[in-house]
Amino acid sequence: PRVSAQTLKQQAAAAAIELIEPLLAEGVVIGVGTGSTADCFIDQLAVLKNRFRGTVASSERSAQRLQAAGIAVLDLNDVTSMPVYVDGADEIDANLCMIKGGGGALTREKIVASVAQRFVCIADDSKLVQRLGAFPLPLEVIPMARQSVARRLQAYGGKPVLREGFVTDNGNCILDVSGLNIVSPAELESACNNIPGVVCCGLFALAPARIALLAGENGIQRLGD
Ligand code: A5P
Repeated sequence: PRVSAQTLKQQAAAAAIELIEPLLAEGVVIGVGTGSTADCFIDQLAVLKNRFRGTVASSERSAQRLQAAGIAVLDLNDVTSMPVYVDGADEIDANLCMIKGGGGALTREKIVASVAQRFVCIADDSKLVQRLGAFPLPLEVIPMARQSVARRLQAYGGKPVLREGFVTDNGNCILDVSGLNIVSPAELESACNNIPGVVCCGLFALAPARIALLAGENGIQRLGD
């Protein structure tokens, strides 16, 4: 490729900065995601840090990076609204449904995104897929339920694999489920949400992104609003 993946991530982050800049004001809180693309966004957000109240982070990792950049990190319990939540994705489709959780932060990501008015997805355009599911679907699971949840996923035709040596920020484990034929992402998300012991499903389909800013060799492709 002529442009490195890292450069594309920085370009997608820059497009998000451009999008949110007019929204910044004294009391405004911005939701911030997790991952290498979200890291690019954090680095660029640092320049604007005096123009808004602060951020809510979707992981300990992002909170640390935000604080290191001098950006205020707030407790979600002290925040009632956010105009935007900006985050990457592992896969996104044309309806802006996503698979997330490659970094294991899916539960806090979904919580923070649920409080924000709009989810802005930033990614390089290799994340855009025809159908979700080539990337194994992460599920955050209460540890005592990992076998019972795994059996239920097998019944759906999935191959769940425990993410070895990994504990989420909430003290739970992750099952990465490959082999799912995701024809209806929203239906599968509901089904996973209904399995006892599943804390969160990495599908973001019941509440998909509102805008996707996808960086490619020919510039930024904007999907959604
Ligand atoms: C973190 O849990 C994930 O949902 C990330 O948003 C996703 O893995 C994207 O990460 P990259 O920007 O590093 O590809």
